[in-house]
Formats: sequence, C-alpha cells, structure tokens
Amino acid sequence: MSGFYHSCHVRARHTRFTIMASLLLLFRIRIRRVLKVNIMKSLKLLAIIVTVALSAGTSQAAENPGYEFDPGRSQGGIGKFYMGREISGVMGHQAAGWLEREQRTHEEMPDEVVANMGLQPDHVVADIGAGTGYFTFRMAPLVPQGKVLATDIQPEMLALLERRKAELGIDNVEPVLGRIDDPGLPENSVDVVLLVDAYHEFSHPFEMMDGINDALKPGGRVILIEYRAEDDSVPIRPLHKMSEEQVVREMSVFDLHWDDTLDFLPWQHMMIFSKPE
Ligand SMILES: C[S@@+](CC[C@H](N)C(=O)[O-])C[C@H]1O[C@@H](n2cnc3c(N)ncnc32)[C@H](O)[C@@H]1O
Repeated sequence: MSGFYHSCHVRARHTRFTIMASLLLLFRIRIRRVLKVNIMKSLKLLAIIVTVALSAGTSQAAENPGYEFDPGRSQGGIGKFYMGREISGVMGHQAAGWLEREQRTHEEMPDEVVANMGLQPDHVVADIGAGTGYFTFRMAPLVPQGKVLATDIQPEMLALLERRKAELGIDNVEPVLGRIDDPGLPENSVDVVLLVDAYHEFSHPFEMMDGINDALKPGGRVILIEYRAEDDSVPIRPLHKMSEEQVVREMSVFDLHWDDTLDFLPWQHMMIFSKPE
C-alpha cells in the first residue's frame, strides 16, 4: 500500500514537475517570441525612421548634371553644353518686333495654346522668358482672380511689356526682372509655369529649372513649348529647336512627371509636366 502510495506520490510529483516544466518552457518560448517580435518590430521601425530621415535630407535636392564648355564643337550657340545640347544665345530685345509678327498667330496658334493650358480663374501663372508678353496678355483675362507673373532677364523687354499693360489696362500682370540663374519667384507660389521658345536660351538651365521647381505649388504644372527638332521641315535653326526626347531627359533631373505632349501645333511640341502633390 505504502509502496503503491509512494509510487502514486512520486508519479503525482513527477506529473506536477512535468506540468510546471512545460508551463515554464511555454512561458519562456512565449516571452522569447514576444521579445523577438518586439525586437523585430523595433528594428523595422528604426529602419523606417532612418530611411525617412535620410531621404528627407536628400530627396528634395536635384543634382546638377553639369556643364561642358567646348567652343570648338559650337554650332553657333554659346559654346556651353548641357546634357549633350548646345545652349543658344539670348534673343535680344532689338528683335522684339519679330515676337509680335502677324503670321505668328497661325504659325504658333497662341490662342489655342492658352485655351489648352487648363487655367483656372484663380491661378497664378508664371510666363518665364515672357519677352513682349505675347502669351502673358492672352492668359491674363483667363485668371481674373489670379495673376500672371511675367519674367524676363532683359529690362528692355519688361519695359515693352509695361507699356502694353498700360495700353490694355490690364492689372493682373506683374513684370518680374529675373536673373540668368534665378527666375526670381517665391517658393510654393505658382500653379502653372509657361515657357515658350525660351528654355533653349537659358544659359543656366539647371539653376533655372531648380528655381522653377521650388516656385511650383505641389501639383503645379510646367508647360514647355519648343520647335520640334525631329522635324527638318520646321524652318528654324537647329539650335533653336528641341526634341521631345531631349526635353524629357532634361526635365527628368527634377521630380517632375511628364504628363503629356500635345501635338496640335504646326511647328512645336507643347509638353506638360507636373510636380507631385
Ligand atoms: C525667343 S524669346 C520668347 C519670348 C516669349 N516667350 C514669346 O514666346 O513671345 C525668349 C525670351 O527669353 C528670355 N530669357 C532668356 N534667358 C532667360 C532667363 N534665364 N530667365 C528669364 N528670361 C530669359 C529672353 O530675354 C527673351 O525675351
């Protein structure tokens, strides 16, 4: 009996011990799992924080692909090359009359261009390299609660633009004297930027586009119009033309999305890029 009792007692102790040991093991495994999961979670979180912190410091800044100076290779431009393209000289204000030539209405269809820009009444538009304001004064009536910032680097062009503004009695046009490497626009202030026959003349295209990108509001658009380099029948010197491929290459330096190319113009590409929201 006592042997039986002893053996039962021992078995019961053994069972208790086994249960206790199993519980302890389970508990340790659980703790280890919980710890492991928490450590994994913490590591993942840390990785995300480090990535975001690093990218916050770098994603904003575009890198300048650089310029090459090679007068020997020049085709009549300024002997300065950007991403394989020679930059053209600036069209002087002495030729301002050419911008207002009568046949330009069917060669460059300015009213149709402006009608296709998707302007809203309260938009702030920047006409960069505005010249005499050929496009500026067509856009101004479409943004009655907004305005057109007409920028140029030649004060003489802006003087012509001021004269025209007074003649037309338009008050939502603001002339802005820019610099060759700075459009002179406040950050995050512009809905649409228009560049007509001007970008290929920028002596500092990287710096200009960097400033334009900063001036754009999130979701803002750049509308770039240049004579088609792919088309030999367009009667303009090659230096004053740009291919679609070259424009896309140069814009890709910045965080700009190529939305569309409208090809209704007889001689030019009308290309639309947007800044992410
Ligand atoms: C060929 S005109 C075109 C003018 C106007 N966009 C038009 O279509 O009638 C180019 C203009 O760009 C201007 N320009 C050149 N480089 C510039 C720059 N970095 N910033 C602003 N304007 C510039 C020139 O002074 C000139 O008035």
